[in-house]
Amino acid sequence: MDLEPTCAGIRALHLQDLSGSRDKLFWFLCGWLGGPDHYIQRFGHPRLRARHLPFAIGIAERDQWMACMMQAMAEWAWPPTWPTA
Ligand code: HEM
Repeated sequence: MDLEPTCAGIRALHLQDLSGSRDKLFWFLCGWLGGPDHYIQRFGHPRLRARHLPFAIGIAERDQWMACMMQAMAEWAWPPTWPTA
């Protein structure tokens, strides 16, 4: 979202320094995917709907967020293909 001009709308919702957002998303997704619960250990239950309420998030913001996530997954070749032999 830092690099895509089409995602400037959601970039503007975040702080100038994205390191806190990056850490929180990583901690959350790590637990959500079955790994260590870093997010819950630090902040308790995610309550993501409540935590997003302060922000004006509509259809355009949803689409920008999804575009960023899809691009990130494509760049990291996710999901991985496992060797079958
Ligand atoms: C619908 C589009 C979304 C928008 C526009 C959006 C935007 C934001 C913004 C502006 C923040 C506050 C800044 C920050 O703490 O980084 C935030 C926090 C966060 N978002 Fe989203 N978000 C969206 C969807 C999602 C989704 C689908 C997830 C989970 C897969 C997610 C996970 C998080 C987490 C874990 C935080 C940190 C919450 C906290 O501890 O304060 N967001 N989001």
